[in-house]
Amino acid sequence: MNRIHSIELLNKAVGDELQSIYQYLYFHFHYEDKAYEMLSKLFERISIVEMKHLEMLADRILFLGGDVELRPTKGVEKVNEPQKMVEMAKNMENESARNYNEWAKMISEETDVVTKRLFEELASQEEAHYNEFDIENNNCKDFGDMYLALQSMKRYKKDSAE
Ligand SMILES: [Fe+2]
Ligand SMILES: [Fe+2]
Repeated sequence: MNRIHSIELLNKAVGDELQSIYQYLYFHFHYEDKAYEMLSKLFERISIVEMKHLEMLADRILFLGGDVELRPTKGVEKVNEPQKMVEMAKNMENESARNYNEWAKMISEETDVVTKRLFEELASQEEAHYNEFDIENNNCKDFGDMYLALQSMKRYKKDSAE
């Protein structure tokens, strides 16, 4: 088993997960600020799932004798137009799923079956995220401002009831 190569790929994944966590929190703050209830909650929930991914990767790196490089792949992009945020997230998930597929293939050749399985599991979870963001992206496109206005109204009603 080539531990060095596994650790290197696992740390790349750590960088991507951190990047997603920060970007999704940024989106969450902006949707929250505009009171788009559902999208705000969606990004909060998925950023927490990405934190769990980060933890799974970190556990594996430490088990293999490496150390966790907590460096996001890139900085947060200041995209905060409501429809653009969900579209960007969809593309990010698509890329993550593709990376995990690719890395799972690379690792299998070196017979680190546990890391390979971890990448496969993460690929399937990123695909599920892709699907959620794809649906929201279509909703924003199909229903436009009406879709967003409904979310604000829901929040307004909830706040008034409290
Ligand atoms: Fe993830
Ligand atoms: Fe994801």
